Amino acid sequence: MSKVDVLLGLQWGDEGKGKIVDVLTPDYDVVARFQGGPNAGHTLEFNGIKHVLHIIPSGIFHAEKINVIGNGVLIEPCIFKKEISDLAEKGVDATKNLYISKKAHLILPSHRMLDAANEQAKGNAKIGSTLKGIGPAYTDKIARTGLRVGDIMEFDFREKYEMLKCQHLRLAHTLNFDIADFRIDGHAIDEYERMWLASLETLKQFNLINSEYFINRCLDEGKRVLAEGAQGSMLDIDFGSYPFVTSSSTITAGVCSGLGVAPSRIGRVMGISKAYCTRVGAGPFPTELFDDTGTRLCDLGHEYGATTGRPRRCGWIDIPALRYACMLNGVTDLFVTKPDVMNDFDEVKMCVNYDINGTLTDQIPFEFNEVEIKPQLVTHKGWKQSLQGIGSYSRLPQPLLDYLGEIERLTGIPIKAVSISPDRKDVLFK
Ligand code: GDP
Ligand code: IMO
Ligand code: MG
Repeated sequence: MSKVDVLLGLQWGDEGKGKIVDVLTPDYDVVARFQGGPNAGHTLEFNGIKHVLHIIPSGIFHAEKINVIGNGVLIEPCIFKKEISDLAEKGVDATKNLYISKKAHLILPSHRMLDAANEQAKGNAKIGSTLKGIGPAYTDKIARTGLRVGDIMEFDFREKYEMLKCQHLRLAHTLNFDIADFRIDGHAIDEYERMWLASLETLKQFNLINSEYFINRCLDEGKRVLAEGAQGSMLDIDFGSYPFVTSSSTITAGVCSGLGVAPSRIGRVMGISKAYCTRVGAGPFPTELFDDTGTRLCDLGHEYGATTGRPRRCGWIDIPALRYACMLNGVTDLFVTKPDVMNDFDEVKMCVNYDINGTLTDQIPFEFNEVEIKPQLVTHKGWKQSLQGIGSYSRLPQPLLDYLGEIERLTGIPIKAVSISPDRKDVLFK
């Protein structure tokens, strides 16, 4: 009997999960997404080509591996169809090795409308949602009014769909939302709805399964399963910087409910952190840089959202937040990505504590959004050299090894590998 290994983001998302999952996939039989939906944008690069996945797990480029969209994930059929056709253009036929949980919930066009309506109603307090309908679709799931993938095969699906849509329209009306002017990816909502309903036929071509049975059977047979997280621990619905979070459980606990595996079946937990820190959308970010260094991180790191294209806010690595994420997830192995972005920096800083009203703490306060947090920064010498062709972890420049060693010391978690470029081949295992 084997266990599920987990790979997830320890910051505010975009840590490089897609790339690392792709690199680790050869060691596994099954790669399964357990939460989130098209708000995610996971980038993979190999043979000079870049791929961005939103709903589909990042093991899909390995034809002999099964990829599973678990029950905890949200599926938007139009976005899913586009992803499938983008893959087909690259010669990848996902119908063979992609299985979908019948219990995964659907994002309706009207969920996307409500997302926009909610954000508009919040005014200055808006979260900066990706507007893919995540919040409203998870709201319906919890309210027990949602529609699931398995429902599309039922004779009364259309009736249920219309009922839910009417509820959403009433809600939008109470929020004074201008439906006539609203566009989804450039389409009026009626037009988008037609595309959405047509996209259900694409979904029906897939192996729609009870994925909890499938995953547990795989484990019983000794197969190796990797659970792929989306977003990051600091965007978790419970432990993130609420309300500036996403609407799912992005931490290891989410693997149990999002795939139907018992806690005793969780194996290694691999947490990913950038060598610095980024955040897209609103909410607290104690180490954010508003100066030239921040701009340099954004430019050199190509820090623009893979889903929305928005520039990502950039700052130094935040050890209190990282330690918090390691604690919540039970991280056993760290992966650090993108130190190469800082190759030219004279010095690199690390936040080791928060100064809140003159008191030093390494804990995330309940009032995270309200208090002024001064990051206590420790300066490290820059390594001032390219990492290209370095070949092995031990040959990394000493100042970078020192910096990585300090991350290990402060988190108490060993680093398993470092990624030094967007490409699949550039991961140095320790
Ligand atoms: P994810 O959401 O966690 O999968 O991460 P994203 O794909 O949204 O963002 C990570 C970005 O960094 C992508 O553009 C990747 O191609 C890129 N990337 C990943 N690892 C590295 C690395 O080690 N160095 C550099 N320079 N870029 C990387
Ligand atoms: P990956 O998987 C970074 C952010 C949004 C917003 C907040 C809520 O690529 O790391 P939502 O659309 O869920 O209502 O947005 O969460 N967010 C992400 N930020 N990476 C992501 O995914 C994100 N998914 C959501 O910017 O602030
Ligand atoms: Mg991303």
